[in-house]
Amino acid sequence: MVHDGAMDVVRTVPELRKAVAAAKAAGSVVGLVPTMGCLHEGHLALIRRAGRDCGWVAASVFVNPTQFGPGEDFARYPRALKEDLAACRAAGASLVFAPEPEDFYPEGASTWVEETAVSQGLCGEFRPGHFRGVATVVAMLFNAVQPDIAVFGRKDLQQLAVIRRMARDLHMPVAIVAHETVREADGLAMSSRNRYLSAEDRLRARIVPEALAAARAAVAAGEGSAEKVRAAALGRLSREPAFKVQYCVVADAETLRPVGHVTAGRTVVALAGHLGATRLIDNCDL
Ligand code: PAF
Repeated sequence: MVHDGAMDVVRTVPELRKAVAAAKAAGSVVGLVPTMGCLHEGHLALIRRAGRDCGWVAASVFVNPTQFGPGEDFARYPRALKEDLAACRAAGASLVFAPEPEDFYPEGASTWVEETAVSQGLCGEFRPGHFRGVATVVAMLFNAVQPDIAVFGRKDLQQLAVIRRMARDLHMPVAIVAHETVREADGLAMSSRNRYLSAEDRLRARIVPEALAAARAAVAAGEGSAEKVRAAALGRLSREPAFKVQYCVVADAETLRPVGHVTAGRTVVALAGHLGATRLIDNCDL
């Protein structure tokens, strides 16, 4: 264990468990913010949010190999542990868990956690095995930390739905807290992958929040047909030919199944696509 200012940095599950046990013995409510590092303001908002409810907050920094498909960006996923530790400390984390894959996955690990409903469609269609890797590593983190609350960003809406469903179905004693998407000045949702964008593509990327805004504007103007709201979003996306749409769905906010009509407060629009080799996702309530 390393004491990094007021924050501990641990690499193994036994060290993590010892620190959590001490925090619980001291009466702290324990929060967890799972991340893959390369932290931006969106992650730091999650840590600060956890700190509002918890006297002790662990952030994990772990690029989880099992949630990347063949040909995806596992090898080049940005890693910046030194900067991440400084950012976690500034955001008020009590501990950072930053294992290597071999510290966290037991040798020959052969157990998976797989959610089979809300993980279907949307990103699940284009990233087979992704949500199985996410559910498994988040279950491992929940078991290792046994947090009272865990905070996730709404930008990864399907991930949030999978984790909520997993925690409910498996009676995991943790409250899942969702935090609003944190955005750049032009509306682009913050993401560690935004740094892959070329300067030109970064400018083009504003088409994504503009498409969501077009969907919302259609609803605000009285449109209730999901197909027409979806068409409004797609129409806006078509103004940027460099953006290659993977999906654009008007869906139920909980099940993420496509709907025919927009129900205020219960419907979302979610989309994904590529600018060059960079995959962007985003969503908003309708
Ligand atoms: O959202 C992420 O960064 C990851 O999917 C998570 C939840 C940390 C699991 O690896």
